[in-house]
Amino acid sequence: MDRKEFLSQIGFGTAGIVLFGCMSSCKKNGDTPSAPSNVNIAIDLTHSENIALATPGGSIVISNGAIVVAQTQTGGKYLAVSRACPHEQLPVHYEASKDDFFCPSHSSRFTSTGAYVSGPAGSSLTQYKTSINGNILTITS
Ligand code: FES
Repeated sequence: MDRKEFLSQIGFGTAGIVLFGCMSSCKKNGDTPSAPSNVNIAIDLTHSENIALATPGGSIVISNGAIVVAQTQTGGKYLAVSRACPHEQLPVHYEASKDDFFCPSHSSRFTSTGAYVSGPAGSSLTQYKTSINGNILTITS
């Protein structure tokens, strides 16, 4: 291998490393599924998988991780919003003590209805309707 060939390979290798580095660190999407549409999900509140919803301030994740459902801290009211933060699609969670949703990745905050409050997210979460009939909580879009 002559010098020109060697430098050519190094130059290509450096460009490849820079490109790979940008592709890794510049990635914008997390692995949280985006907000689903046409939602109609029935949740049995007596089922062991959903037991957290039986407690005020408790929450669960449904729809393959795309929706977070919570019972308000004061109890009796259910909330459901998309889980993917609009910033980089990382997961938000319900903060019972503040009765709102929070993205711990970069500190974006949303109201209990998913409306944007602060942080880099810049837009709101998708809110889903909730209704209760006996022990069945229904989440719809
Ligand atoms: S991913 Fe939520 S604030 Fe960045």
